[in-house]
Amino acid sequence: MSKTNQQWGGRFTEATDAFVARFTASVDFDQRMYRQDIQGSVAHAKMLTKVGVLTEAERDAIIAGLQEVQEEIERGEFEWSVALEDVHMNIEAALTEKIGITGKKLHTGRSRNDQVATDIRLYLRDEMVLILSELTRLQQGLLEVAEREADTIMPGFTHLQTAQPVTFGHHLLAWFEMLQRDYGRLQDCLKRVNIMPLGAAALAGTTYPIDRHYTAELLGFERPSENSLDSVSDRDFAIEFCAAASLVMTHLSRASEELVLWTSAQFDFINLPDRFCTGSSIMPQKKNPDVPELVRGKSGRVTGHLVSLLMLMKSQPLAYNKDNQEDKEPLFDVIDTLQGCLRAYADMIPAITPKKEKMREAALRGFSTATDLADYLVRQGIAFRDAHEIVGKSVAYGIEQSKDLGEMSLDELRQFSGQIQADVFDVLTLEGSVAARDHIGGTAPNQVRAAVVRARAVLAAR
Ligand code: ARG
Repeated sequence: MSKTNQQWGGRFTEATDAFVARFTASVDFDQRMYRQDIQGSVAHAKMLTKVGVLTEAERDAIIAGLQEVQEEIERGEFEWSVALEDVHMNIEAALTEKIGITGKKLHTGRSRNDQVATDIRLYLRDEMVLILSELTRLQQGLLEVAEREADTIMPGFTHLQTAQPVTFGHHLLAWFEMLQRDYGRLQDCLKRVNIMPLGAAALAGTTYPIDRHYTAELLGFERPSENSLDSVSDRDFAIEFCAAASLVMTHLSRASEELVLWTSAQFDFINLPDRFCTGSSIMPQKKNPDVPELVRGKSGRVTGHLVSLLMLMKSQPLAYNKDNQEDKEPLFDVIDTLQGCLRAYADMIPAITPKKEKMREAALRGFSTATDLADYLVRQGIAFRDAHEIVGKSVAYGIEQSKDLGEMSLDELRQFSGQIQADVFDVLTLEGSVAARDHIGGTAPNQVRAAVVRARAVLAAR
């Protein structure tokens, strides 16, 4: 083994300090991109052959050698070396060890700068496809439960105070809509991820007659990138992905907070099957909603990584800087975390069952049909502000008497307005209240069912 690093030893007179070698290495975390690194190298070798830089025999030796390396990695037999710094140099060194001098020709017309930028995009693209399909599975689950619970009535809240009755199906469709926008954001981001930096070389392009359109086509990229300086340096595509992921996690954290509340003894709205919960080692009665709690907690870490990447990129001069090696751990952790949370949620959502009686009682308890009474009075010709006042007084009376509006007799209600007739009870029931909100986007059960049909068509068109 030579004193200096074999990849750049030429101009060095001493070996890298052992600690510095470890400190600057990324192989411990970038080795997960080995498949994409090899995929990129195979395409690069094919392109170099097409333009006459490599012979067909050299190309075939390189591809066969890379295949062997990949198999070794997949069998768990590959020895990753920190001295070789990163996944790119580890694989290239192994290739050269296998096929000799031809292995050293693979790096013609490229740099690790465009190589790593390409690898990350290939890797992220693959993972985003999985994320999008898991998101779809979660949305399908939400539609399934929303349809099943289109008639189930629960209190709707503002300020976490009972506001108006809504249907449980309608509530779940609100979650669906949040995720629908998240899907669109990720899809849009994918368009910009799927652009090929390879060919930018170190920063300025290369003197070889490369065919970037051909390489892009081989790798399934939409097109080669336009500017070499930009291609090797910007990680905005990763930042954008983390921003979209942060919103998914923010949405899941909101759902999680509700699931945690709903499984509490105080709400007791839903049952979360035991397989999504854990117990307490000291309190035998406990069944904790761990999955929603953990997802809620993990949302913080994803947004933290987004901020890390923004700070990493901020003020970096063109073109590549070693700073960018720091892009991987946050990005990979966002990918892993998002995939885990989506999987847990997609498995869990279809399994939640509402405790319909509890939801109903809660909706009845909070004067949730007060607005319906006011609207009724408006229909009798009373101005809304006056109607508001009349209903306010009825509610105050109800609190004093421990009676909901629907439980009062007609005479009791008529103390507050002579305009109130026997038909008032149609609007004071929970069913009457939700059924009356009968327009697109409203909580009426038939609107929920129609929304489910439209949403299914959207998913089917993906
Ligand atoms: N390991 C490096 C990274 O992750 C690869 C690119 C290194 N390029 C360089 N000129 N040092 O960014």
